[in-house]
Amino acid sequence: MRIDILTLFPQIFPGPFSSGIFQRAVNSGLVKVNIHNIRDYTHNKHHIVDDSPYGGGAGMVLKPEPIFEAVAQIKETLKPEEGAGPPPVILLTPQGRPFCQQVAQELSGHSHLIIICGHYEGFDERVRQYLATDEISIGDYVLSGGELAAMVIVDTVVRLLPGVLGSEASSRDDSHAAGLLEYPQYTRPAVYRGWPVPEVLLSGNHAQIARWRRQQAIRRTLERRPELLDKAQLSPEERQLVSRLKKDGTC
Ligand code: ADE
Repeated sequence: MRIDILTLFPQIFPGPFSSGIFQRAVNSGLVKVNIHNIRDYTHNKHHIVDDSPYGGGAGMVLKPEPIFEAVAQIKETLKPEEGAGPPPVILLTPQGRPFCQQVAQELSGHSHLIIICGHYEGFDERVRQYLATDEISIGDYVLSGGELAAMVIVDTVVRLLPGVLGSEASSRDDSHAAGLLEYPQYTRPAVYRGWPVPEVLLSGNHAQIARWRRQQAIRRTLERRPELLDKAQLSPEERQLVSRLKKDGTC
């Protein structure tokens, strides 16, 4: 997957993209991230990227020209094998559609993403109307720029790409992957400060372990995020378990 990020603060980016799983993905050629400074696409002497809003008011607005130009130049560099059809052009703003695991799954199906980070009071509306094909928010709060949102989205998407995680199962069992929160995990020692690991996990009985984990995931989701269960794919027996837990007041 190729990811092009447009930003006014390129210096922020190397950090999270240069360690751990992400760096491994880059080194093995599964993902290539290009960071573009929007300022490099200006033609004025002082590389000005913003201007005051028409109609007056506080703050500054990002000018359309450098953003349109940057996206056009990125698209020109596309090799035929780098994508069937034009890549999504994603604007990061608090007004976008809410980001979640399902959106990450959807984005991970593309071979190329173009992500635009905003700043100041926002973008000239024509960027939204005529350039962006998608607009995403990572939550109902306002960041001072889209950079942290871009990192969140890119990290979430990249770990879903085949081959990035050690085993397919590790992302399959993630919280939210199947609409449920993840089950509790334990490692050695079997007893720590007198707190034992649940016996079933030491039993070696894989069917029982899988059943226990699934039930724990359901229980935990009911306790912490009950609204997720409405959309989760549960068997009739699992639905019964939910009703029983609710009735018992266990949750
Ligand atoms: N830019 C500023 N706030 C944002 C948010 N919540 N999500 C995405 N981009 C943003």
